[in-house]
Amino acid sequence: MIIRARRINPDDAERLRAVRLAALADAPMSFWQTLAGESARPSADWRAHALRNSAGDTHATFLLERDDPAGYDPERDDGPMGMVDVYQPSLAPEFRELAALWVAPAIRGTGAADTLLDTAVGWARTAGAIGVRLWVVPTNTAAVRIYTRHGFTLAGGPEPDMDDPAGKVYVPMLLMLDSDESARG
Ligand SMILES: CC(C)(COP(=O)(O)OP(=O)(O)OC[C@H]1O[C@@H](n2cnc3c(N)ncnc32)[C@H](O)[C@@H]1OP(=O)(O)O)[C@@H](O)C(=O)NCCC(=O)NCCS
Repeated sequence: MIIRARRINPDDAERLRAVRLAALADAPMSFWQTLAGESARPSADWRAHALRNSAGDTHATFLLERDDPAGYDPERDDGPMGMVDVYQPSLAPEFRELAALWVAPAIRGTGAADTLLDTAVGWARTAGAIGVRLWVVPTNTAAVRIYTRHGFTLAGGPEPDMDDPAGKVYVPMLLMLDSDESARG
């Protein structure tokens, strides 16, 4: 199966919710948000998220799906496959921040995560960002390794997040974007 990362569209609110809840059920220690908290969000929130992240250069969500030349067919939906969010941090608007990266266990190790990361970073570059930042739990070896393989480097020491419901510790990672490449698009 060929998989692609597609930017979310305003009709994807239910799919977004399904993917995000699958991610939180599968990997609760990877994310700040909790399954209980996200499950309780009203439908209007997911619709607003899908609408906001479907266009423009401040927020984007990309969903993994089967690359079907005939287009998306709900009859052939493969279920949650993966996602990533990218957004403009309010205190550092020249960057984009990457969050909520998740790939379904069944398709890990296939390059699907590379597709998501390449798409997210490419979008940030096109949006004019000078770099992409993220926070990762340092014991999350698979995540740290893939970010490192994509050129991210540690940008600081471990910081406990006082607001994190599980009291997790995160480290910042940073990828500076080459302005020449940016000019080439
Ligand atoms: C992080 C994630 C997206 C990576 O996807 P993936 O398909 O496993 O990515 P890859 O196959 O490219 O593997 C990434 C690296 O981790 C390694 N790896 C994979 N599973 C591993 C494991 N269980 N333990 C240690 N290393 C592991 C791979 O060998 C690879 O290392 P390399 O680049 O040095 O070869 C996926 O594991 C995931 O969704 N995890 C749960 C959610 C999560 O942690 N998201 C990140 C939040 S910051």
